[in-house]
Amino acid sequence: MDPVRNPYSPGAGAPPPALVGGDAELATCDVAIQRFGLGKPERSVLLTGLRGVGKTVLLREFGRLAEGHRWVHHAVEITEELEFVEEMSALAHGALRALSPGRIVVDRARRALGVLKSFQLKWKLPDEGDVVMGLDPVSGPADSGLLDRDLAGLLLEIGAVARARGVGILVTIDEVQNLAREHLGALMVALHRVSQEQLPIMVAAAGLPTVPRLVGEAKTYAERLFHFRMINSLADADARAALATPADAEGVRWRGAALDRVLAETRGYPYFIQEFGKHAWDSADGPDQITADDVDIAVPRATRELDAGFFRVRIDRTSREEQAFLAVLGGAPHHAEVVRTIETWSNDDSWIGKAVADIKGSTGGTRQGVAERLRDSLIAKGLCYSPREGRIDFTVPLFGEFLHRQEGRVGGMESALPPP
Ligand SMILES: Nc1ncnc2c1ncn2[C@@H]1O[C@H](COP(=O)(O)OP(=O)(O)O)[C@@H](O)[C@H]1O
Ligand SMILES: [Mg+2]
Repeated sequence: MDPVRNPYSPGAGAPPPALVGGDAELATCDVAIQRFGLGKPERSVLLTGLRGVGKTVLLREFGRLAEGHRWVHHAVEITEELEFVEEMSALAHGALRALSPGRIVVDRARRALGVLKSFQLKWKLPDEGDVVMGLDPVSGPADSGLLDRDLAGLLLEIGAVARARGVGILVTIDEVQNLAREHLGALMVALHRVSQEQLPIMVAAAGLPTVPRLVGEAKTYAERLFHFRMINSLADADARAALATPADAEGVRWRGAALDRVLAETRGYPYFIQEFGKHAWDSADGPDQITADDVDIAVPRATRELDAGFFRVRIDRTSREEQAFLAVLGGAPHHAEVVRTIETWSNDDSWIGKAVADIKGSTGGTRQGVAERLRDSLIAKGLCYSPREGRIDFTVPLFGEFLHRQEGRVGGMESALPPP
């Protein structure tokens, strides 16, 4: 059918044509925004889940909710290149600009700008010009040189301005697993201080399933700071709606077993739903239906596209050894099982123990040591996470199946591997 009218939207953070299944999270965020606005005790929101389940899409919806309440929304994505302290300064700058329109700056905001200025001087950050320029730095609250203290000092200032204006500030932080530990800690201290003062600054963060552990390790009071929400694949009815509703809007019906086929392939994971939906649409003759035969044609096409994109980019930045180790994990006899036990790796006779011994052969070190080193580097690269002590799993849904399809190519045959 006409690809121009294709409603499906595979892509990182791409708004889905029908957002289903996020009602509970949206309600939690909406209530939290309103409670923060009233100065009532409330927690920020932390979304966790595998890749492609819709965390970024939800954060964007949260931003829209905040704007609907006339709040200031500032979005941050944590990448390896991101200068966190500079980004926090930009947050303060952007928020103060939004809170004090034009050049008429009320006393409270003028003071906050002075604090921001001394923060920028202390942390050797570029002065972003306009509003901050020409103001005297206000020293004390945010220029001690200790990040915990200075970030808290800065947020308290902008929180006070927001409260004076009768609005709040939502900071959405995506890919939060990439935050350096000291930065995560400083952010939590700042949030803690802000909540003690009942100021209207709220964070909505999203990251991989490792994040609850990271925040718990950073500060013991993590569970009092955040609502933790695990985002998963869509429930059956929601997954059907995610496929059927956008087609309906274009006057197209999914027929017979077509939907069942896509649900079986995608297991309800939002990214895959969009990718398979897109290919089913493009493969269909139409003019007003998508049939099971169309899906049969679409399945290998969608799979190829996922393999070359969504899955492939995940392993592009891994070493040969890491790929070999991934292949070991993906080749688990019951690879549909979600957990794999690290203890068995030290067992000489287990299949996994033998496989790790092969990798070790080329790198040296004890088998346990090799396994632990590779496990740590794959976790650091965001490909794996530890659901609980001694276990490891992929952060990418259906990754084991992908590795299976690559058999002999990932970590095995030389051809598809990057040069040593
Ligand atoms: N609730 C949903 N229903 C249908 N599709 C969704 C939903 N949430 C996200 N998607 C789709 O899933 C894909 C991945 O979403 P994204 O927010 O980038 O996931 P994550 O941030 O968890 O990796 C996008 O193509 C998006 O359109
Ligand atoms: Mg995302």
